Amino acid sequence: MSPLLEVTGLRKSFPAKRNLFGRVTERTVVSNDVSFTVGRGETLGIVGESGAGKSTIGRQVLRLIEPDAGTILFDGQDVRKLKGKELLTFRRRAQMIFQDPFSSLDPHMTIRNAVGEPLSIHFGLSGEERDRRVVEILQRVGMREDQLDKYPREFSGGQLQRIAIARALTLDPDFIVCDEPVAALDVSIQAQVLNLLLDLQEERGLAYIFISHDLSLVRFLAHRVVVMYRGEVVETGTAEELFDNPQHAYTKSLVSAVPDPRARRRRRAVPAQEA
Ligand SMILES: Nc1ncnc2c1ncn2[C@@H]1O[C@H](COP(=O)(O)OP(=O)(O)O)[C@@H](O)[C@H]1O
Ligand SMILES: [Mg+2]
Repeated sequence: MSPLLEVTGLRKSFPAKRNLFGRVTERTVVSNDVSFTVGRGETLGIVGESGAGKSTIGRQVLRLIEPDAGTILFDGQDVRKLKGKELLTFRRRAQMIFQDPFSSLDPHMTIRNAVGEPLSIHFGLSGEERDRRVVEILQRVGMREDQLDKYPREFSGGQLQRIAIARALTLDPDFIVCDEPVAALDVSIQAQVLNLLLDLQEERGLAYIFISHDLSLVRFLAHRVVVMYRGEVVETGTAEELFDNPQHAYTKSLVSAVPDPRARRRRRAVPAQEA
């Protein structure tokens, strides 16, 4: 079976300079020939310093922005060519969780509606049936039913990230791009959210792209890792390989910056991939 996601030769540039007449005279390449795969139920870590182009990769993969070139295959389908019903199905199956849960939720929408909205849009659910699904998923991420009619400002960062995770889960996706999902949270809360992501992955066979500038987090969660430097993939390997035997100078500097790279080991084995 093919990987769930297969990205080949992704290229993206943004205008860097314009002349007096607003014409673009220089472009910054932020994705330079980026290729990787993500297996079913697998976590691919994307690690690199701020500005390396990690988020831009995540957004292209989910078709939130359009690449200049390259191919994105999701379950064998060419994501860049999807339209109509197939695009809607892709939008259901592939979700995203952002660094800042507050700005990813509408401040004027109750949690009930924020988490229920995708169910209305994709399945036309409403009323009791929708509520039943919303309560179920919110309880799964550790929220209580009596919190349903509150607004985002009434929750802590950790609670909001749980709510954002619930919203991403409502449509029963196969794949979630987690873009620095704990970077804005207190250290004491980070482990809870990461463990929730791990548990959900095991329960639901989810595949993740886990984006982080923090190699120790990637080490904890990812089965395989892509190291990005200035828009390019400079190294790919299992988390173990990268830690034990980094090849690229940038990877070496990342590894040496982790206080004790051997302290935390991944909780579970790589899921078996059908050939
Ligand atoms: N919409 C945009 N327009 C112009 N430049 C952008 C845009 N989005 C990102 N960039 C630039 O692309 C580079 C990579 O950004 P990003 O993907 O957010 O990096 P990372 O997530 O690794 O910090 C940065 O230099 C950023 O300024
Ligand atoms: Mg980013």
